[in-house]
Amino acid sequence: MASNNFKFLFRLISLLIATASAQLSSNFYATTCPNALTTIKSAVASAVKKEARMGASLLRLHFHDCFVNANIIKSQLENLCPGVVSCADILAVAARDSIVALGGPSWTVLLGRRDSTTASQSAVNSNIPSPLRDLTTQLYMFTNKGFTVNETITLLGSHTIGQARCTFFRTRIYNETNIDSTFATSLRKNCPATGGDNNLAPLDATSPTSFDNAYFKNLLNEKGLLPVDQQLVNEGIIYSQITEYSNNEETFRTDFANAMVKMGSLSPLTGLNGQIRKNCRRQNAQISPSTHNVMKCQLLYSFW
Ligand code: HEM
Repeated sequence: MASNNFKFLFRLISLLIATASAQLSSNFYATTCPNALTTIKSAVASAVKKEARMGASLLRLHFHDCFVNANIIKSQLENLCPGVVSCADILAVAARDSIVALGGPSWTVLLGRRDSTTASQSAVNSNIPSPLRDLTTQLYMFTNKGFTVNETITLLGSHTIGQARCTFFRTRIYNETNIDSTFATSLRKNCPATGGDNNLAPLDATSPTSFDNAYFKNLLNEKGLLPVDQQLVNEGIIYSQITEYSNNEETFRTDFANAMVKMGSLSPLTGLNGQIRKNCRRQNAQISPSTHNVMKCQLLYSFW
């Protein structure tokens, strides 16, 4: 009897460890929601066709891993396989599909992330670099997460698509000197010295809806939109990477795909951690810890 109890306990602990530390995998939904990926792909394709910026916004959401806009796709998947596909996985796939829809590279998205049970402003503030910080601080935030400086520059190449609000580039167009004067003058028309904070300009003025290497070419011509973008060319080691990407788009595409896989695998919640949100905007209704434990155990027994 004692030995049976011991065996049971041992299996329970092993299962808990295994499920709690589950790895991401590319075929995570193969049996539980086989059409998940094609559903996301066609939803992204039609959203980007209607409004190209949607692709950029989805990519940025994946970077910030916040869930505000993923709800349309989420509701389609809830109809297809309720309670199965996490919002975090939807964003990871939607970001990849958005980039492909805008002409960028593709990669295999590893799946099995779960959603957080909290939404903490302070966690966002300490993990997401404020756009107004200088380059050194930005690089530090990324290296702190395990990225090399090279990978960080590669990821910043995301600014080849999408737009930014006047409030984030006003200093650059009125106060900075390392900016092409014609470029600055044209931007001032829509971004006055005061007011118009939310007026938009493309991050890549040359080809704002194409995922290409124009962002890096622009930097070499002092046409970076954000202060942090243009600061990249001041650093010797970074300068050589920018020149390389300007001359060789294929290198940028390959490096970008690899860096996105790494970004998507940063300490994800897996196994029994976190939850599958019903609504991407908020965590599921709170349940008391005791109910939660009962449910966890029911789940474990159903595996047995
Ligand atoms: C040094 C770090 C970074 C800084 C300081 C930064 C800053 C910004 C700022 C200020 C905007 C404009 C936001 C607005 O006006 O609302 C923006 C847009 C954007 N960022 Fe970044 N960013 C950084 C890294 C990244 C990374 C790593 C990615 C993706 C992997 C990314 C993807 C984007 C995209 C796609 C947009 C356009 C979004 C849209 O049009 O809706 N950024 N970024």
